[in-house]
Amino acid sequence: MTTLKVNGQEHQIEADADTPLLYVLRDELKLNAAKFGCGLGQCGSCTVIVDGKAVLSCVTPLLLVEGKQITTLEGLGTDEAPAPIQRAFMEEQAAQCGYCIAGMMMRAQALLQRNSKPTDAEIRAELAPHLCRCGTHMRILRAVKRAAHLMDTAELLPANQGSAR
Ligand code: FES
Ligand code: FES
Repeated sequence: MTTLKVNGQEHQIEADADTPLLYVLRDELKLNAAKFGCGLGQCGSCTVIVDGKAVLSCVTPLLLVEGKQITTLEGLGTDEAPAPIQRAFMEEQAAQCGYCIAGMMMRAQALLQRNSKPTDAEIRAELAPHLCRCGTHMRILRAVKRAAHLMDTAELLPANQGSAR
């Protein structure tokens, strides 16, 4: 039995300790924002935030995240009240097929939590592990900068992000 804290809620999970976190998020907890892309730690589509850091959940076993604060895209905001990063990606129309987008947003969110004014070079370097086959890179870059601006101009982080800063 493994205790997982996901988006502020605690779950008891009956799965082997070496089970990838992504499988539990999607199959057990029905949190489907994080995507299964390569399953090999090579595309970034499965990225979630664990204790403030971007983590590839497809290659992260449960035993490494037990008791830690796990945040998925579902934990950032809602349709009615999207988080700044979600708003920014929508306003910049950064998604095409959308497959990479949840992972991109989660890594960008983790970046903005530790660096509220990243340079273009810092954003590019941070998102380098993420593949976008649709080629919306320039819109994604603009979206991350817009999110930084939104956060900087009085937008509050979601409540469950406070402890990860
Ligand atoms: S699915 Fe995890 S890095 Fe590709
Ligand atoms: S929007 Fe399609 S893979 Fe990035």
